[in-house]
Amino acid sequence: MLELKNINMSFALKGKFFQTEKRAVVIRDFDLTIGDDEIIAVVGESGCGKTTIGKIVTGLLAPTSGEVLFNGENIRRTKRNNKSDYRRNVQFIQQDSYAALNPVKTIHQSLCAAIEIAEKGISKEKKQQRLEELMGFVGLTPIEHFVFKYPHQLSGGQRQRVLMARALALNPKLIVADEPVSMIDVSLRIAILKLIEKLNRELKIAFIYITHDLATAKYIADKGRICVMYLGDIVELGNIDEVLFHPKHPYTQALVTAVPVPDPSYRGTRGEIPVKGMEMTKLTERGRGCSFAPRCPYATEECSQEDIPYVEINGVKVKCRNIEEVPVWT
Ligand SMILES: Nc1ncnc2c1ncn2[C@@H]1O[C@H](COP(=O)(O)OP(=O)(O)OP(=O)(O)O)[C@@H](O)[C@H]1O
Ligand SMILES: [Mg+2]
Repeated sequence: MLELKNINMSFALKGKFFQTEKRAVVIRDFDLTIGDDEIIAVVGESGCGKTTIGKIVTGLLAPTSGEVLFNGENIRRTKRNNKSDYRRNVQFIQQDSYAALNPVKTIHQSLCAAIEIAEKGISKEKKQQRLEELMGFVGLTPIEHFVFKYPHQLSGGQRQRVLMARALALNPKLIVADEPVSMIDVSLRIAILKLIEKLNRELKIAFIYITHDLATAKYIADKGRICVMYLGDIVELGNIDEVLFHPKHPYTQALVTAVPVPDPSYRGTRGEIPVKGMEMTKLTERGRGCSFAPRCPYATEECSQEDIPYVEINGVKVKCRNIEEVPVWT
C-alpha cells in the first residue's frame, strides 16, 4: 500500500550560534514498504527521527529527497483530489494528545468536525449516529460522560481514545501512531494497545506503531515486522521474533540487552550492555559511514567512512559491514 523510497531529510540550522549555515541530517536512505493490513513497529532512541518519519508518511513534512508512494502514486505529485484522498486515508495520531486537540473545543465539536469532513452535508441524525458509533468503538462509553467535556477534563488515556475516534471518522487505511501510550499509565497502556489490535483486525487498518519501548512493540506487532532505527538509519528490519530474539546489528543487541528483566533468574544472562561508550555522532558532522560506529565494540576504521550496504540474514535486513565479527545470539 505505502512505499517509502530512499527518503532523506535534513534541516537547516540557522541563527546566531552558527557562523555558517549547517544542515542536520535526520533521516538517511530510508526504504520501507507497508502492506495492506500490516502492523509495523518502528523503534529507536529519542531523537533518532521516528516522529520525522511519521510526519513524512502523513505528508506533513516534505522529504529533502526521495518519494512516498501510496498505491503506486507519488503523494506529492498527484492531482488535488487524490491529495485530499490521501489525507483521509493516512491519519496521524500524535505523540502529545493534549497538543493534538483544540483546547477550546469540546470532544463533540472536535469529532463532529471530522465527521463532517468525511461526509459533506451529513444530516444531523446521521452525524449523531456516527458519533455514537465512533465513541463506542474506542470505548468512550457511556458517551454522555465524555462528549461535552474539554480536552483538559479528560485523562491521557481518554484523550488518546478521542484521537483514535477522530482518526477513524475519516475511514483511514493507514494510521501512524506516534508513541500513543508513552504518556499513559502503564496499567492503562494495554487497553490502548488492544484497541489498536482491534482496529487492525476488524477494520483492516494498517498501522505504523512508533515507540521507544520494545515490550509494547512486541505486543502490537506480534506476528509482524519491526524496524530498528539509529540516528536516522534503519539498522535492522525484519520479522519481530527474529529481530528481538536473535538481534544481529550491534545496536539492536545493545537495545535488547538494556531491557530490564523482572525475573532475577534471567537477569544478567546477556552480560553487560555491549557498547564502547556513550558518545553520539553529531547530526551535522556525519559522513557516509555507520552512525553507530563510535559506540560499537566491533567497529573498524572503515565503518565510519564507507557507505554501508544491507546484508540479509534469515530474512532480516541488517546494515552492518562487520557483521561476521558480531556474536550470534542463539
Ligand atoms: N523542524 C526541525 N528543525 C530542525 N531540527 C529538527 C526539526 N524537527 C526535528 N528535528 C531534529 O530531528 C531529530 C529527530 O527528531 P524526531 O522528533 O523525529 O525524533 P524522535 O525519534 O521522534 O524522538 P522522540 O523519541 O524523543 O520523540 C532531532 O535531533 C530533532 O532535533
Ligand atoms: Mg517523537
